[in-house]
Amino acid sequence: MSQPTPSANQKLNKWVQECAAKCKPDKVYWCDGSKAEYDRLMQEMLATGMAVPLPKRPNSFHFRSDPSDVARVEDRTFISYPQQIEAGPTNNWMAPDQLKKTMNELYDGCMQGRTMYVIPFSMGPVGSPLAKIGIEITDSPYVVCNMHIMTRVGTRVLKVLGSDGEFIPCLHSIGAPLKPGQKDVSWPCAPIEKKYISHFPDENLIWSYGSGYGGNALLGKKCLALRIASAMARREGWMAEHMLILRLTSPEGRQYHVTGAFPSACGKTNLAMLLPTVKGWKVETVGDDIAWMKIGPDGRLYAINPESGFFGVAPGTSYKSNPMAMDSIKENAIFTNCAVTDDGDVWWEGMDGEPPAHAIDWKGRDWTPASKEVAAHANARFTAHASQCPIISSDWEKPEGVPIDIFIFGGRRASVVPLVTEAYNWDHGVFMGSTAASETTAANIGAVGNLRRDPFAMLPFCGYNMGDYFAHWFKMGDTLGGKAPKIFYVNWFRKSPEGKFLWPGFGENSRVLKWMCERVDGKVGAVDTPIGRLPRKEDFDLEGLHIAPTVMEELFKVDTAAWKAELPDIEKHFAKFGDRLPARLANQLQEIKKRLG
Ligand code: OXD
Ligand code: MN
Repeated sequence: MSQPTPSANQKLNKWVQECAAKCKPDKVYWCDGSKAEYDRLMQEMLATGMAVPLPKRPNSFHFRSDPSDVARVEDRTFISYPQQIEAGPTNNWMAPDQLKKTMNELYDGCMQGRTMYVIPFSMGPVGSPLAKIGIEITDSPYVVCNMHIMTRVGTRVLKVLGSDGEFIPCLHSIGAPLKPGQKDVSWPCAPIEKKYISHFPDENLIWSYGSGYGGNALLGKKCLALRIASAMARREGWMAEHMLILRLTSPEGRQYHVTGAFPSACGKTNLAMLLPTVKGWKVETVGDDIAWMKIGPDGRLYAINPESGFFGVAPGTSYKSNPMAMDSIKENAIFTNCAVTDDGDVWWEGMDGEPPAHAIDWKGRDWTPASKEVAAHANARFTAHASQCPIISSDWEKPEGVPIDIFIFGGRRASVVPLVTEAYNWDHGVFMGSTAASETTAANIGAVGNLRRDPFAMLPFCGYNMGDYFAHWFKMGDTLGGKAPKIFYVNWFRKSPEGKFLWPGFGENSRVLKWMCERVDGKVGAVDTPIGRLPRKEDFDLEGLHIAPTVMEELFKVDTAAWKAELPDIEKHFAKFGDRLPARLANQLQEIKKRLG
């Protein structure tokens, strides 16, 4: 039995019918986005054992994924244009005809024995001029509940869509049909070689198959809000970036808005929710992962957070590292691949206090502190609504967004890169973003700790040739002119030769933000170096922080030899883009070479 369609949009109704004919679910259910719907689906998942209740956290639930389905799968992620050059050298590519043929065979009957959920969702406040509507079709109730938190879901979105509005179709299946009478497993999914996370940017179309995990399955996030949106943004003259958004207020009450691009699991959520240690300064969170930015009527760049929740990395999150995140997940939260304690709470490595004497680990096995393996997967996650963050900005849902003053790029670098560097100008800032590099983390399946160039933290998320993406940044800078945000590069992770972090990080990062704001206002000075402008000692606020001057010297050291040693790698990185590399980037490389001597 299926409901009558609640949509007046014939294009949408036709697409839903086509998907149902292809995937052959037992029934079709249109999500209304209500709390009752969320509660009912959770109850169903509790009954099947997929969800585990957490009595210590009201209305919160834990899920254990299949051990093969724990992270984004970059090797199985495709950007599909008729010509490979349009996907560029950094994306996996397959021609649309071939990819669709392969995936159509997989989709044929893939929802047998299951319900097909139709999720109307808005990325961005419903009706905002910057928002986009997506429709996700999925056979996973876990995905529906997560989408309720991460996006604005339901009938109100169909109202805005109306009879002829545009939407982005997002088809998702876990790829695990059930034969009549077949017992389900607690986390159904397809084997890795059958997983496909596919994007057809020319058609604004997303097809995902085989994985139930966050970034592969919650299609509003990486697939729509970054890969498809980046291609749309280029066509339409705006920006879709892998950036947090925060508001800083000075003791005098002056507001500054900052966006920051960091690779996955490099502390973006921590920075977005920072509690400043520097006196009188305040931070409010606008977003922790994605920024959509458009030039406003006053010529400045305005940003919205297209999401409505946080899908954060749990391990390492604690009252020390991110108290505001801890307070955001006290209730109404979903946890995935954490450990569950005997008294009905979640636990992960790096949480405050002593580890529990006993827990059930993310694979469902008994765990004690003597166990050889970690209790929570390194990429275990929490999902919580943004409104639960105690420092969420009152303007986080402002339809027109907030005006951006500062862009920050960064990564995880044990050496070479100083604590903070200011770009000389927009072109130099684009050079910094395009050469950003970081040591790899557990957010993607693959080796951890290798250095990789991750331009603008968009390497896994750019929906077109990255050479053209660099050119788009130059074009945006040209249009913004004198109203462009100032660009900085940070590295919180520099280590001493003994392997100790030099900078305390967390709330102390507010000292770096303060210097940036004062640079925006021209209140403090800087020292010109071959790699950019660094703070003058006397301008960098260290009041109340006990840190040895030798450590500060190390943090601000520009190691010319080490930078020169990076140049061949940058050349190799740029060479990949062939004639799609903007000449202005090649010029920047020549300039830095000259400055390094
Ligand atoms: C994320 C990621 O989940 O970047 O935000 O992987
Ligand atoms: Mn991210």
